[in-house]
Amino acid sequence: MSSSIMGPPCSILFLLLLLVARAAARPLYPLPSKVDNGERQPLQTSRPYNIAHRGSNGEIPEETAFAYLRAIEEGADFIETDILSSKDGVLICFHDVTLDNTTDIAHRKEFADRKRTYEVQGVNTTGFFTVDFTLKELKSLRVKQRYPFRDQQYNGKFKIITFEEFIAIALDAPRVVGIYPEIKNPVFINEHVKWPKGKRFEDKFVGTLKKYGYKGSYMSKDWLKQPVFIQSFAPTSLIYASNLTDSPKIFLIDDVTIPTQDTNQSYWEITSDKYFDFIKQYVVGIGPWKDTVVPAVHNYLQEPTDLVAHAHAHNLQVHPYTFRNENQCLHFDFHQDPYQEYEYWIQKIGVDGIFTDFTGSLHIYQEMTTPPHPKDGGNDDHVMSLLHKIALLVSPYEKV
Ligand SMILES: *[C@@H]1O[C@H](CO)[C@@H](O)[C@H](O)[C@H]1NC(C)=O
Ligand SMILES: *[C@@H]1O[C@H](CO)[C@@H](O)[C@H](O)[C@H]1NC(C)=O
Ligand SMILES: *[C@@H]1O[C@H](CO)[C@@H](O)[C@H](O)[C@H]1NC(C)=O
Ligand SMILES: *[C@@H]1O[C@H](CO)[C@@H](O)[C@H](O)[C@H]1NC(C)=O
Repeated sequence: MSSSIMGPPCSILFLLLLLVARAAARPLYPLPSKVDNGERQPLQTSRPYNIAHRGSNGEIPEETAFAYLRAIEEGADFIETDILSSKDGVLICFHDVTLDNTTDIAHRKEFADRKRTYEVQGVNTTGFFTVDFTLKELKSLRVKQRYPFRDQQYNGKFKIITFEEFIAIALDAPRVVGIYPEIKNPVFINEHVKWPKGKRFEDKFVGTLKKYGYKGSYMSKDWLKQPVFIQSFAPTSLIYASNLTDSPKIFLIDDVTIPTQDTNQSYWEITSDKYFDFIKQYVVGIGPWKDTVVPAVHNYLQEPTDLVAHAHAHNLQVHPYTFRNENQCLHFDFHQDPYQEYEYWIQKIGVDGIFTDFTGSLHIYQEMTTPPHPKDGGNDDHVMSLLHKIALLVSPYEKV
């Protein structure tokens, strides 16, 4: 569209019409066979993955459609989510087992009698649990921002979404965008939710991925078409899932003080040589809490541990979590500059992926420092910036 032919008011109208037409034509659950990946820009695989943690939740309430759409717009390679279940067995995107901290449940008088206390990973927790609400009831709630220091203007505007709706957002993206769903609190969910024919949470989870065409080992043709990493803190869930799908899996590792939720193994046990040898039969990498890679004391970084070298020696990728731009989340070493934090983790520590609350910042950092290879997810913007650089190099020699 040439702006010299069409004046600005005209082109805006045209754009709006285009948007309306697109929205109307967009199926809610596109079937994989109907999704044409052929011409879409592929996943970049030449630099560490930009994993949009709960969507762009630094800006928009976590795990909502809008947080994910924003993350895609900002350049995420993968959109990340936590899968839990409703009472009636529908898988939803939601982080906490309770609704209290990120929805308007406190103001919903009709649900006041649903408050319960359950043991969750060895701790008695009181609140409103997703597993005590049907999907219809959950859909009537509205999500809010978790942290008081973040933008509150979107509170009360967006609904909880289902796993299937999340998948539709990824499949509907204008380029190939991977998904990174977590089998969240599987012990608790299997205790509280029952599916027909004795199916488990993990069966339902993998079944949903397969229904939408997610399959294939890491870097296979099928995987590159619809990239996915399945993540979990529970080794038994990963091992069980590996019997159901060859999609790549990531073993999440918590703080050094926290034992695994299913097998009650210590941090030291699950990061031993012996255990890495065992778990690498099932997973392609680990997702450690970042302080286990580089501990911090009084908000200053200490010497890095050998976790990354150790994982790489076992041919395991490392995707640490979670990177946040705000001052209160940045160690003093980075001088309140999130780009310096990315620089350190990518250049010095050598990680393979990063879970970030601010996908846009990581994307801009990576575009500035390592534009993707044109045949590997590079786009016209990159070609244009390269031409621009060449022009700058050449211009001093031009006769004016
Ligand atoms: C949780 O509360 C129940 C009932 O009061 C109690 O029996 C149980 O020991 C508690 N569990 C933990 C881990 O504190
Ligand atoms: C809400 O968040 C606070 C602070 O992180 C936490 O201590 C509390 O357990 C959470 N409440 C519920 C019901 O999950
Ligand atoms: C995997 O499947 C096989 C064959 O169905 C079964 O014998 C085995 O117990 C399963 N393993 C796990 C961890 O579920
Ligand atoms: C988990 O392991 C610790 C340390 O070995 C032990 O003290 C604790 O009782 C175990 N918890 C469960 C639930 O088995």
